[in-house]
Amino acid sequence: MHHRPNRGFDHAVPSEITPRSVYERRRELLKLMALGAGGAALSGWVARDAMAQAARPNKLAPLPGTRSTVPGAITMEKLTSYNDVTSYNNYYEFGTDKADPARNAGSLKTRPWTVAIEGEVKKPKVYDLDELLKLAPMEERIYRLRCVEGWSMVIPWVGYSLSELIKRVEPTGNAKYVEFVTLGDAKQMPFLGSRVLSWPYVEGLRLDEAMNPLALLAFGLYGEVLPNQNGAPVRLAVPWKYGFKSGKSIVKIRFTDKQPLTSWNHAAAQEYGFFSNVNPTVDHPRWSQATERRIGEDGLFAKKRATLMFNGYEAQVGQLYAGMDLKKLF
Ligand code: MTE
Repeated sequence: MHHRPNRGFDHAVPSEITPRSVYERRRELLKLMALGAGGAALSGWVARDAMAQAARPNKLAPLPGTRSTVPGAITMEKLTSYNDVTSYNNYYEFGTDKADPARNAGSLKTRPWTVAIEGEVKKPKVYDLDELLKLAPMEERIYRLRCVEGWSMVIPWVGYSLSELIKRVEPTGNAKYVEFVTLGDAKQMPFLGSRVLSWPYVEGLRLDEAMNPLALLAFGLYGEVLPNQNGAPVRLAVPWKYGFKSGKSIVKIRFTDKQPLTSWNHAAAQEYGFFSNVNPTVDHPRWSQATERRIGEDGLFAKKRATLMFNGYEAQVGQLYAGMDLKKLF
């Protein structure tokens, strides 16, 4: 199997077109700026990937974030372009073609918006979106997203750790799992009549997974609020799991003592397990999961990439699964 060394950049990006010393000095400066002023934080990725930046339409409301210091939160790989991130989507409520969500999700009304916290918590509460936006400092996180279908992207999200919210609502001793219920409104979502999945789209995590600092409650990407097709106004980004675990447009978070029945597990339990950790050694019954296609690299000579255990986040999350048989608990 081929292997790409992680040397930071793969193509003609500023590191290769600017004299190296100049570039490195600029990077140091940007790092310092990111540590200090929140407003300057986003310059990091701007310098890192001028091409992706150039493709950004700059039309949504800005949502800056300070560069995250959570271990593993910033991959150095080349960003997927804004155009690809926002036009090649899975959001079945708006259609099953990759281009459907960008075409159809304009009908999604993202304000007013509330997220209800229910179940095994000491402080159940209905949060207004504006309250959630202020709950914790916004961070920029650059995560790989690996879809179960065999493609991947690198996306600069804006949000904060889901654990920030969980801590505030104080799970009871009975809380073992967290269920994420997303919007299921046939008036706004043209494909809710289709029976590919049972609606609303539901996902779930074990409580300790949800508490891992890498589990992100995302409100934006590329320094702007989320486009509707990417799950506005609030979604999950759980980078070590297949993309379908990251529910879009969340309206309810319920703490439970039992493992939630998730939409994909319900639709095809033999194909989509509850855990769905990225694992190149456990194939999907109908295809291999050993390699992936990086969106934006699909030219004639583009090589497939080797998929990494836990999508490359093993150092951060591997201990969550110690002693588990990951072939059975896929
Ligand atoms: N959330 C909802 N509500 N509906 C969906 O169809 N698709 C999932 C996930 N979240 C989906 C969803 C899948 S399969 C993937 S790969 C990611 O969203 C894609 O996120 P992106 O379009 O922002 O890249």
